[in-house]
Amino acid sequence: MTIFSASSTAPVNIATLKYWGKRDKLLNLPTNSSISVTLSQNDLRTLTTASCSADFDSDKLWLNGKLESLESVRSQACLADLRGLREKVEAKDESLPKLSQYKLHIVSENNFPTAAGLASSAAGFAALVSAIAKLYKLPEDMSELSKIARKGSGSACRSLFGGFVAWEMGDLENGEDSKAVEVAPLSHWPTMKAAILVVSDDKKDTPSTSGMQQTVATSDLFQHRITEVVPKRFEEMKKAILAKDFEKFAELTMKDSNSFHAVCLDSYPPIFYLNDTSKQVIKLIHRLNEQEGKTIAAYTFDAGPNAVIYYDEINEKKVLGLIYNYFSQVAGWEKYSKDVSTLDKIEVQGTNPDIYKGVSKVILTSIGNGPQETTDSLINDQGLPK
Ligand code: DP6
Repeated sequence: MTIFSASSTAPVNIATLKYWGKRDKLLNLPTNSSISVTLSQNDLRTLTTASCSADFDSDKLWLNGKLESLESVRSQACLADLRGLREKVEAKDESLPKLSQYKLHIVSENNFPTAAGLASSAAGFAALVSAIAKLYKLPEDMSELSKIARKGSGSACRSLFGGFVAWEMGDLENGEDSKAVEVAPLSHWPTMKAAILVVSDDKKDTPSTSGMQQTVATSDLFQHRITEVVPKRFEEMKKAILAKDFEKFAELTMKDSNSFHAVCLDSYPPIFYLNDTSKQVIKLIHRLNEQEGKTIAAYTFDAGPNAVIYYDEINEKKVLGLIYNYFSQVAGWEKYSKDVSTLDKIEVQGTNPDIYKGVSKVILTSIGNGPQETTDSLINDQGLPK
């Protein structure tokens, strides 16, 4: 059997200016532009192999070893767009195999637990789109491909780039100008680090898709956020990134996380993503910054209680010193290559020493690259997962 295949990896991204709200649900067109930092694929990435063959009889997806449906409107939209672009390539060169007509077998694996609530759908759709684009030898650039990934999951469009990424909301009804662009590559500010505190939580969070619909429909504060707050912050944050102004970047990041959670609370009925541990982490970071007399760390929280703490490597001894002091009993420090004894022992007043009990894992990572082509294949010569 002749099988065509290609593989790509894609990263997780964590927004520093949040996407929250859609103006078009089907096309995933946002009500505001957003900005994110792409995280290193050494710690968090999806690897996807896309294959196609005249002998396959249906489109199939295996995710972390389990057969999953590709029937969702979102997955269908991505596959239809990619096949459409392949048809254009084939129309220009009659000699090419008609891959656009073949069924696809896609195998995808994350190097981190999907359940941890770490933006796995963003990396997942970005890897799916980049692997199929490579299989189809599409000439489109990453911004063009980001529009396809966006239809899979809004935040996925930002995982097509490394470094610092903006998703420009656009204003066209068909979404053709709603795409991701690079603000600055990884090489611009390679010392940007992230410590993720995976916060244990039993309750099921409101999924982001329905949560944002609820906010758009019911929150008055949301109107203020999208018309007044975010447009200004978008420009300020890009400026802070280009100037490598950590203090400004951090302030804007924390304010935007708080603004996003405020519009969640202002939704009716209200949506709560932060739990008690999350709130204690917020206080911890503010107290650290106060004690230091300058902003050396920034927290941000997505649609769940996990904390992502950004800091510059220059302050690693202090920021990790603080985190180690309170969370040394939590798994994750084995990966820290430098000796923890070199960290400053930073304590802040008023912190509950039991705070570590609410955290199940610490992930120490940094800013990273965009999708990478790879020769690692997850598919065997029968077109099935290896
Ligand atoms: C809070 O991209 O998961 O993480 O477009 O409905 O798939 P859909 O939503 P999704 O929402 C992400 C929301 C967020 C903020 C962000 O990543 O910008």
